[in-house]
Amino acid sequence: MDETLDIQAVLEAAIAEGRQVLYEGNVADYIPELAKAAPGSLGGCLIKPDGTVYAAGDYDIPFTMQSISKTFSLILALQTAGFNRVFSKVGMEPTGDRFDSILQLELKDWHPFNPMINAGAIVVSSCIRAKDPFDEFLKLVRKLCANDSISMNERVYYSEKQSGTRNRAIAYILMNDHILDGEWEDVEDILDLYFRMCSVMVTAKDLAHYAMVLANDGIDPTTGEQIVTPDIVRVVKTLMLLCGMYDESGEYAVKVGLPSKSGVGGGICAVAPNGMGIGVFGPKLNKKGNSVGGEKVIQYLSSHLGLHMLSDGKPYKSIAF
Ligand code: DON
Repeated sequence: MDETLDIQAVLEAAIAEGRQVLYEGNVADYIPELAKAAPGSLGGCLIKPDGTVYAAGDYDIPFTMQSISKTFSLILALQTAGFNRVFSKVGMEPTGDRFDSILQLELKDWHPFNPMINAGAIVVSSCIRAKDPFDEFLKLVRKLCANDSISMNERVYYSEKQSGTRNRAIAYILMNDHILDGEWEDVEDILDLYFRMCSVMVTAKDLAHYAMVLANDGIDPTTGEQIVTPDIVRVVKTLMLLCGMYDESGEYAVKVGLPSKSGVGGGICAVAPNGMGIGVFGPKLNKKGNSVGGEKVIQYLSSHLGLHMLSDGKPYKSIAF
């Protein structure tokens, strides 16, 4: 990346560009509590490995991380159960299906395609080995985001627990097919853990810090601490690149070229190749369940700062979404 670029100015221009497309999206309402998000919100944050923070718009509004939790739960499952165990239960292949699809569970006779879709994440949750899995999850999130005040949103948790019949259906199919792992007494306990993890609140700034740690192979460059091993980070970033934006992952990789993960709360975190982390928030979603404004912001940053991981590091002309 050209170090003379004015990153703050580029970020502000990216947010302005993102605001232009907000009319195309809608706030998620299938979890009733999510429908209360302010639809016009849009913010972003970018952190360099030397600790410099660039922030604009609604970068400090907390929102529930939803599917972004799938990357943290995968890290925790790999740390506690190991690579072979986890990937004996879930695959590594992208799907062209919706994030909450049940289709392949019936057509394929064994495991969900990957840990980034709901079925895969429910299996991954069952793999976590810990006395108090949610407590370990929260500790990991706080550490990777460098924010000890991160907590769960009780209202969103109850709202999803009450309305999450589709995830409940997925979990019961997985139980029926003996795919769930561990010594769980009740499949409802695995679902409860999954719903809790989705309901943890973060800001775009928290996500930028997390993405920066992933960009630095699991080391927090601001403290020097190795939080996650490079092997686990490599696995997680690869799956983010291939499957992190669901059935939009291919198009997003062509246009943005950064391992990323989205959530229906409106967040996206993106790992830049030069050790930088990016976090964005905009609750209006496109039809695939990804933040419309957030995608635009990241695409603008990637092209104007030359971040596409398969390009030469020079700014490039963005292909419109
Ligand atoms: O399981 C669900 O449906 C939500 N808790 C999470 C889904 C999600 O974030 C999909 N993202 N784009």
